[in-house]
Amino acid sequence: MKMIMAIIRPHRLQEVKEALSKIGIAGMTITEVRGAGRQKGQIERYRGSEYSIDLLAKCKIEAVTSDEQCEDAIQAIRRSAYTGEIGDGKIFVFSVDAAIRIRTGESGEDSL
Ligand SMILES: Nc1ncnc2c1ncn2[C@@H]1O[C@H](COP(=O)(O)OP(=O)(O)OP(=O)(O)O)[C@@H](O)[C@H]1O
Ligand SMILES: [Mg+2]
Repeated sequence: MKMIMAIIRPHRLQEVKEALSKIGIAGMTITEVRGAGRQKGQIERYRGSEYSIDLLAKCKIEAVTSDEQCEDAIQAIRRSAYTGEIGDGKIFVFSVDAAIRIRTGESGEDSL
């Protein structure tokens, strides 16, 4: 199993959720976060000194998928979160050792 952590533009969240739903991914956790990438959150240079970092509002999506679904999920997120402008976000992928559905005790991919 893989944990996909995607940081996206908040206004793209609906499209990303729909794109994941279309490929059969329903389980996910969404968090409102603030962050900066390599432009340090500065949209225009004059807004801050070169040492300051502004944090912009982003949405974090965490979704655990099977190994098989992972690549499709990454592509679905890419397509639905893309604008082509700086700040479109990033996708990080981690290996997941275990997953358990609390109600039933199912584990592994059966629990997703
Ligand atoms: N290396 C990183 N580690 C953790 N979070 C990151 C990292 N890079 C970006 N992020 C998160 O992703 C958000 C969007 O980053 P962003 O898309 O601006 O990345 P970038 O590398 O600056 O690419 P671009 O040049 O397309 O803007 C950031 O606000 C931050 O929340
Ligand atoms: Mg950036």
